[in-house]
Amino acid sequence: MDITVIFMISSTLVLVCSPSSYAQTALPPTLSPTPAPAPAPEYVNLTDLLSVAGPFHTFLNYLVSTKVIETFQNQANNTDEGITLFVPKDESFSSLKKPSLSNLTQDQLKSLCLFHALPHYYSLADFKALSQASPINTLAGGGEYALNFTYVSGTVHLSSGWTNTKVSSAVHAKDPVAIYQVDKVLLPEAIFGTDIPPTPAPAPAPDIAPSADTEKGGSGSSPTSSPPSSSHRIVTFGGVWSQLVLAISGGLVLFL
Ligand SMILES: *[C@@H]1O[C@H](CO)[C@@H](O)[C@H](O)[C@H]1NC(C)=O
Ligand SMILES: *[C@@H]1O[C@H](CO)[C@@H](O)[C@H](O)[C@H]1NC(C)=O
Ligand SMILES: *[C@@H]1O[C@H](CO)[C@@H](O)[C@H](O)[C@H]1NC(C)=O
Ligand SMILES: *[C@@H]1O[C@H](CO)[C@@H](O)[C@H](O)[C@H]1NC(C)=O
Repeated sequence: MDITVIFMISSTLVLVCSPSSYAQTALPPTLSPTPAPAPAPEYVNLTDLLSVAGPFHTFLNYLVSTKVIETFQNQANNTDEGITLFVPKDESFSSLKKPSLSNLTQDQLKSLCLFHALPHYYSLADFKALSQASPINTLAGGGEYALNFTYVSGTVHLSSGWTNTKVSSAVHAKDPVAIYQVDKVLLPEAIFGTDIPPTPAPAPAPDIAPSADTEKGGSGSSPTSSPPSSSHRIVTFGGVWSQLVLAISGGLVLFL
């Protein structure tokens, strides 16, 4: 009996308080009363992601020491734009001899870190269009902080003038956060200047493998003897060719 009374009272209340009795006049009839909110994209913790993948510890340490990790996380939290990160592995930092990062100021290191990010989420396929629109501003800015992209048969190549490299794998690619592994640390002209030394191996791989020189190099098979200065040039030369061979075989592996 009590339950029936309560039921009747609450039904009456529901009727009285139903939004139609208030909102009918204020809202145009076409508007749906409660628009379904879009599901919030999953929060991506960049520190978490970068500390388990890679190893990207060197890069992450730079991000933390310069506090750029907060800028990146803030950008990642801004889900309308999102973020695209290019992350070099630890070995890319350890193999970086010249120019060195060791005498950079804290501000320069900060810019160097920001240079590794674009203020928008891009899937790998988006880079086809980005290569037409290059240079693309990074989070460090435009001009000498911009990056050029080229998209060649599914591979994204990046150029900063100092650095020519490519995306070697996708660590995370889900809107709003893209993290791509790159083979080298990206060096901006804004920090290292425009006086770029000529690169030993040119960016476009030669169509024809040079065969004449490999015959001549037959005598250099014993690496043990190392006369002081005269052989230096040869050693460097060999280094260039071995890099080239590595690059070519790397390319072949990609095609297989
Ligand atoms: C992100 O992950 C790091 C490392 O796991 C953790 O220390 C930090 O508290 C996390 N941040 C948030 C906001 O969850
Ligand atoms: C990003 O969002 C997470 C979860 O909402 C929050 O804990 C964190 O403080 C935010 N970080 C920044 C830098 O905005
Ligand atoms: C760092 O040192 C190199 C030479 O060792 C020099 O060419 C370069 O200008 C220096 N960079 C800065 C930012 O001081
Ligand atoms: C990037 O592309 C622009 C336009 O093609 C060119 O002027 C510039 O030199 C390029 N910069 C680098 C670093 O490759």
